[in-house]
Amino acid sequence: MPGSSDIHHDIEEILIAEPVLRARVEELAHAIAEDYAAKDLLLVGILKGAILFMVDLARALELPLEMDFMAVSSYGNSTESSGVVRILKDLEHSITGKHVLVVEDIVDSGLTLRYLLENLERRHPASLRVCALLDKEKVQDKPLELAYIGFTIPDRFVVGYGLDYAQKYRNLPYIGVLKPSVYAED
Ligand code: IMP
Ligand code: MG
Repeated sequence: MPGSSDIHHDIEEILIAEPVLRARVEELAHAIAEDYAAKDLLLVGILKGAILFMVDLARALELPLEMDFMAVSSYGNSTESSGVVRILKDLEHSITGKHVLVVEDIVDSGLTLRYLLENLERRHPASLRVCALLDKEKVQDKPLELAYIGFTIPDRFVVGYGLDYAQKYRNLPYIGVLKPSVYAED
């Protein structure tokens, strides 16, 4: 039975292995802990892609902090962001006066995040910054600034560690590239 019950079967290449992810998350947590030492930190995780990263990051952060979550969806097709974003689930608490760090899985064009940041800025947080696990290498400039970046990766479609293709592969413990045959089946 080739593959069907093996979550690793559809992966062509592992881009970032589990121990490498773990070490980098620790480094990011240390940097964040230093920067926010005397501040009340609110982590805002963007569902669903950022959940694994958010949980590992929060666990490594030896700071008093709060966590909240938002879910957004881009309109249009799934491979390119239109920049028009719909809020599927909003934050449960006010962010006014809080030091907000948005935790995101991956920044591609940056349009989703830009929309989100504009929306959050209108709620008057004390500060608003972004921690993205992955940033895709692109020729054009991104329309936003990322305070913390885990890894810069080539412009390829990746899955794992929270990232999905058609809602699957989020539970892979590493970041990988899918075999082309997986897309061809659709
Ligand atoms: P952007 O608006 O172009 O920056 O798109 C960002 C969103 O698209 C991310 O939050 C992901 O949900 C999704 N995305 C972009 N690239 C990938 C990828 O390689 N794998 C999985 N999801 C991706
Ligand atoms: Mg996302």
